[in-house]
Amino acid sequence: MSRDSDEEQSAAPPPAAAEATLSAAQALAQILAYHQRSKHRPDRYAAGPETLDWSAQPNPFREYDGAPRILLPLNADRLSASFAALHIPGAVAVQPLTLDSVATLLELSFGLAAWKEYGPDRWAVRCNPSSGNLHPTEAYVICRHIPAIEDGVYHYLSRDHLLEQRCRAGDTPGAPARLLVGLSSIAWREAWKYGERAFRYCQLDIGHAIGALRYAAATLGWRIRIIDRCSHRQLAQWLGLDRDVDFSGAEREEPEALLEIDLAPHANQVPPFRFWEPELTNWQGCANLLDAHPMYRWPVIDEVTLASRKPFTQESLPCASSATNRVPACEIPAAVLIRQRRSAQRFDAGFTQDISSFYQMLDALQISSNIPWDVWNEPARVHPVLFVHRLTGLRPGIYALPRSIKAQAQMQAAMRPDFLWRKPADCPHHIALFLLAEANLGQALRAISCHQAIAADSSFTLALLAEFDAPLQDAPWRYRQLYWEAGLIGQVLYLQAEAAGLRGTGIGCYFDDVCHELLGLQDTAFQSLYHFTTGYPVTDARIASLPPYPRT
Ligand SMILES: Cc1cc2nc3c(=O)[nH]c(=O)nc-3n(C[C@H](O)[C@H](O)[C@H](O)COP(=O)(O)O)c2cc1C
Repeated sequence: MSRDSDEEQSAAPPPAAAEATLSAAQALAQILAYHQRSKHRPDRYAAGPETLDWSAQPNPFREYDGAPRILLPLNADRLSASFAALHIPGAVAVQPLTLDSVATLLELSFGLAAWKEYGPDRWAVRCNPSSGNLHPTEAYVICRHIPAIEDGVYHYLSRDHLLEQRCRAGDTPGAPARLLVGLSSIAWREAWKYGERAFRYCQLDIGHAIGALRYAAATLGWRIRIIDRCSHRQLAQWLGLDRDVDFSGAEREEPEALLEIDLAPHANQVPPFRFWEPELTNWQGCANLLDAHPMYRWPVIDEVTLASRKPFTQESLPCASSATNRVPACEIPAAVLIRQRRSAQRFDAGFTQDISSFYQMLDALQISSNIPWDVWNEPARVHPVLFVHRLTGLRPGIYALPRSIKAQAQMQAAMRPDFLWRKPADCPHHIALFLLAEANLGQALRAISCHQAIAADSSFTLALLAEFDAPLQDAPWRYRQLYWEAGLIGQVLYLQAEAAGLRGTGIGCYFDDVCHELLGLQDTAFQSLYHFTTGYPVTDARIASLPPYPRT
């Protein structure tokens, strides 16, 4: 029998031993050790493969051979809501849960955005960005009472925009329609290129994926929430990732996050979450092998994966922030903007960014009741430090944007004592931006960013400093969550840059401790988990862009 009740809500958590084999202290020690050894340093990059044969890249598309398939319609072109409208509560009409709307959600979050061609090379880009375009994230949907979709668990195959039915869910007559989205990671896709640092990139990609889902849901007038009480073990069961028989010889997937679609247009209309434990039967399909000849193994990734698995926890309350973000002045249809989002590969170093678009981007990072922050039930623990190169009316230098009052004091105490902490003249009252030091840091940033020119030629580059020791002491599994928050910030910046007629690029390759030293950080109270850069892109006209799906 399947369950959907208040009784289930108050069910006692499973014993900790059922979820984890490590004590919290052991888990924390392994995570901290992983974090240190996966740092890039100027004299020693984190361990990775010595050679790379691109023709041997693991298959970026998981398939379940033998699972029945549902080809999804391509509807995103029909959506007219502007990117601005997504940020105005109630401005986008709430769509019913149908095959069409589920298809649109997936098309605009994990669907392909284009095929690219250059010489003999051909590769797909997607709505969600990914470190090295390697796409470790897989998406699943759990459907109940959605017309034309039999109740069950489905895997999304982005290459063909279709669902593969993994199993059926037990009947629940009279229960309302429901849609849950599960996310998992296949670390080998990243580790193949990046070695030990790959676990970090998988987690950043999950943060981007959560953001991509939130924006896609908003185009349908939907809300979305993270079901954060769910344990690793529970999620593995629901997504069928614990089924040894279906993964015989194939790379396993690590369960990451579960999200639920809400059709209530306003936060105060969201009914309390009711756990739903469907009876899952008739599992079908076997996972395909992605890499027949893996050249390396990185056991430390398995260790940190295990150490950071989440146990069952109490559900956290939805974000209670009453703050609102400014609506971006962008009338481009959101469905167009989301699919045109790309990472800049080069910037025009002669370009100076207008200060108003800069403040709009900073405003969009504040925790609020707007998208995408309404998906985030945690306090802000990740705080940008900005390296300004070329902005009208703002001197080049180092700036801090603490995303909470508490963090401001902590950052001030942890960073260089001679930092100024002075609010720039003309900075809007509601934006907590502080000048720390005036400096021209283009070349320093390029060096810190593994010598990548994009960090110097942009208008500004930023480092995302996470509160590190304190949250991990409480719960080591938050190691993943900190990266998710950083990735979610990255997704906001990507779309805001695009909305401003600019372009951004996530930067996962940087020398961690050189950045920390520049800021005077002497311990691990704060650690930089992700960098991002924004400017005016120079596009490579030699790369051809082709439609994502031949049937369009
Ligand atoms: C977590 C993360 C880290 C990244 N790190 C870098 C980087 O260090 N340098 C770079 O040029 N691009 C970086 N990128 C951009 C990716 O290469 C890019 O997302 C990918 O090639 C797909 O292209 P698209 O963003 O245009 O879809 C990163 C992206 C993500 C999500």
